[in-house]
Amino acid sequence: MNTPAIETFDITRKFDDLVAVDKISLKIEQGELFGLLGPNGAGKTTLINMLSTMIPPSDGTAQVWGIDVKIQPSRVRQNIGVVFQGTTLDDRLTGKENLDLHGRLYGLSKQLRKQRSDEVLELVELEDKAEVLVKTYSGGMMRRLEIARGLMHHPKVLFLDEPTLGLDPQTRNHIWDYIRRLNHEENVTILLTTHYMEEADQLCERIAIIDHGSIKALDTPGNLKNALGGDVVILSTENETQASVLCNLLNKNGSAGNVHYKDDNVSITLQDGTHQIPRLLKIAGETGVNILSVDLHRPTLDDVFLSHTGRVIREEETSDVGRITYKLQSRRR
Ligand SMILES: Nc1ncnc2c1ncn2[C@@H]1O[C@H](COP(=O)(O)OP(=O)(O)OP(=O)(O)O)[C@@H](O)[C@H]1O
Ligand SMILES: [Mg+2]
Repeated sequence: MNTPAIETFDITRKFDDLVAVDKISLKIEQGELFGLLGPNGAGKTTLINMLSTMIPPSDGTAQVWGIDVKIQPSRVRQNIGVVFQGTTLDDRLTGKENLDLHGRLYGLSKQLRKQRSDEVLELVELEDKAEVLVKTYSGGMMRRLEIARGLMHHPKVLFLDEPTLGLDPQTRNHIWDYIRRLNHEENVTILLTTHYMEEADQLCERIAIIDHGSIKALDTPGNLKNALGGDVVILSTENETQASVLCNLLNKNGSAGNVHYKDDNVSITLQDGTHQIPRLLKIAGETGVNILSVDLHRPTLDDVFLSHTGRVIREEETSDVGRITYKLQSRRR
């Protein structure tokens, strides 16, 4: 058995009374591309900060490539690269100068710095911007340069905290390609955080859904979705009170699978959704709940998150792919 790339043992971090990371135990194997998916404030950055030895755990510990973050933090740092959530580039330097500076901090020789900066610039396709001041870069180029910098010293493990935050979909897609390439070609184990469902879904081999400092579910995106079973039907009602009434009724009724409500929508996970819709509408009608629209889709990671936490990560991240939407006439009584 190989040493795990990362293993945490009830790792915990408190800020005064706030428990930002709450007894997380997880194991990430060598070569994995692993994602931590969770909303703002879930504890993703705090966990990365502990694993990368930026802050110590309050309790528990972790090992990176078998080295304990509490006992030998400087040895851990030799093995890792970190791309922080906020930019830490020096924009008064050129791309190449930023890389060179990083190489010096890691004690690389002049020749190695030159060779390695050429390699990593090629990997993120920034060769033609190498001699240009970073302050003239676009947001996507800066992100790519940061990823390149994180790779300068050949880390075994790369931490990427929200690698595509705020970038447009096309740039995001490009960055996903680089991340896949460096995972395969450079054989780097990657732990990334994201609150973009699509990013976790498309990019990561396994993901941990994290909320309020703890892991709610951990598996491949496919297994997490399949575990919900069947289809997801969203019944849109007139208001939250109606959604809550309908949700309670369906839950009591027991024949409607996994039921949650959020704002004025009721979400039901069940087998053979298409044929169940008339029955669900009948129940709503008998209760006096007005259904404004019905949406049927295969489970997404958003549905997985909702089913484990009762909340949505971010509404705008839900994908329209594969959806059938039935717009119903409002049946006002
Ligand atoms: N230095 C700090 N002092 C006090 N509280 C902190 C500190 N750093 C983080 N927190 C709190 O810990 C919790 C987890 O924060 P963290 O930054 O780890 O979340 P996150 O999942 O990375 O969120 P985001 O998606 O917004 O980046 C939050 O409630 C945050 O306010
Ligand atoms: Mg964060």
